[in-house]
Amino acid sequence: MNAETGIQGSYWLETAPPGVPAPPPSGDLSVDVAVVGGGIAGLSAAWELVQQGREVAVLEADRVAAGVTGHTTAKLTALHTLVYDHLRRTRGPEGARLYAASQTAAIRRAFEIVDELGIDCEWEEAAACTYAEDPGRVGALRAEAEAAREAGLPAEFVTETDLPFAVAGAVRVSGQAQFHPRKYLLALTDDLRRRGGTVYEGTRVVGLTEGEPCTLRTDSGVSIRSDEVVVATHYPVFDRALLFTRLSSRRELVVASPIDEDRAPRDMYITPEQGTRSVRTAPYHDGERLLIVTGEHFAPGTAHVEDRFARLFAWADDRFDGLTFTHRWATQDNDSTDSVPLVGPLHPGSRHTYVATGFGGWGLSGGIMAGRLLSDLINGRLPAWHRLYDPRRLASVVREGTSFLKHQAQVARHFVGDRLPAVTAPAPDNIPPGHGAVLRLGGRHYAVHRAESGSLQAVSARCTHLGCIVAFNHAEQAWECPCHGSRFAPDGRILQGPAVRPLEKRDIPE
Ligand code: FES
Repeated sequence: MNAETGIQGSYWLETAPPGVPAPPPSGDLSVDVAVVGGGIAGLSAAWELVQQGREVAVLEADRVAAGVTGHTTAKLTALHTLVYDHLRRTRGPEGARLYAASQTAAIRRAFEIVDELGIDCEWEEAAACTYAEDPGRVGALRAEAEAAREAGLPAEFVTETDLPFAVAGAVRVSGQAQFHPRKYLLALTDDLRRRGGTVYEGTRVVGLTEGEPCTLRTDSGVSIRSDEVVVATHYPVFDRALLFTRLSSRRELVVASPIDEDRAPRDMYITPEQGTRSVRTAPYHDGERLLIVTGEHFAPGTAHVEDRFARLFAWADDRFDGLTFTHRWATQDNDSTDSVPLVGPLHPGSRHTYVATGFGGWGLSGGIMAGRLLSDLINGRLPAWHRLYDPRRLASVVREGTSFLKHQAQVARHFVGDRLPAVTAPAPDNIPPGHGAVLRLGGRHYAVHRAESGSLQAVSARCTHLGCIVAFNHAEQAWECPCHGSRFAPDGRILQGPAVRPLEKRDIPE
């Protein structure tokens, strides 16, 4: 519950059981496969590998299914806004076809698992729609419908939807799904354990030595020897191929309100307009559904988040009328420069290390797809789409040079610009309760936060990943790094990587 607004946080975290605790390892370990990261990609890979007889350990820094996966909008669809027209131009019709086939196979796989394990995760079939209100976008929507159809999806261009406002047009793909992501993943985790897999929570991996076997090191000094390693930490904590130059982090806000069942849209919607708006509903109390609206994306540490929440509340209330918001939360995505996830060997010389990242806002179908793809690769199989997702691909990065250079320029600005001496900031006395500010004192950057009680605490403002300067997100009470999206609590604890070390505690100089 947010103390200032009286509104709950993530609906998925609130309404799923807490999960069976999984303590950290008490000593060194040896396994066939170590999976670093207990979100949907890591748990899906682990579950597939255990099915295939591998001895698997999942190493999660926090709790499983509580990070990005616990904050998503939980749409399972192969229609990813306007990706197919883009893919047929950049990767050719075959690339678009493989993308559609792999994402569709992931949705089918999720359904098989739900069915086989009897998981109660509020699975609902629904159509996915990309819409626009601006008639100027109809051409792009028609092109997307045609490209998605060519790629093998049952896509059609329509002008009528069950949204309560007029649209200029929409691409509609039937047979997609929505579910409760945390209920799904907790059941998958339980089954993983039943089949002999091991899960360790509160276990942050801070070192990787590649070899035969590979060795991982945790922050508590435990060593894990493993034949194969999967890095599925959302943003990779190990980067041996400069993946961070091809990924950009994006934070997005989510608000939710009950809505009468007869007013709730049945389909799932997204529009690239107004800085992206996404709409779905979920089962709620009798006679009601929960309307979940997402939007207002921004680079971590670069926005006034309360203003953006206010804009999203206003947009949802304007479109759906008479809402009473009960939940609000934020999610974080990593976009790859060519709009295709990076799933496969960790670097060009990799023999036993793999990565899954860059799912954009489509981490559920992408994560399930990645789980199957990585388990296939580890077992020596090459699915038809392995080259499409291979992180070692170079040609497409060259084609996506503009996006690549833009991201690098932004990072350079935060990295170099933050070192300029002309940083102005209030003195510690001017920081109000519940706020934080970066101060330059005696030539060093301090990230200073004043608690509601009035006490001040300071940590280094230099992100422990690659040294950019963090900024304070008041709405979520977190220090955020604009370069690659690491997030820290006011006391410097890591909330989200790629950083693996907390911000260093500092005394404020007199
Ligand atoms: Fe990379 Fe902060 S996350 S420098």
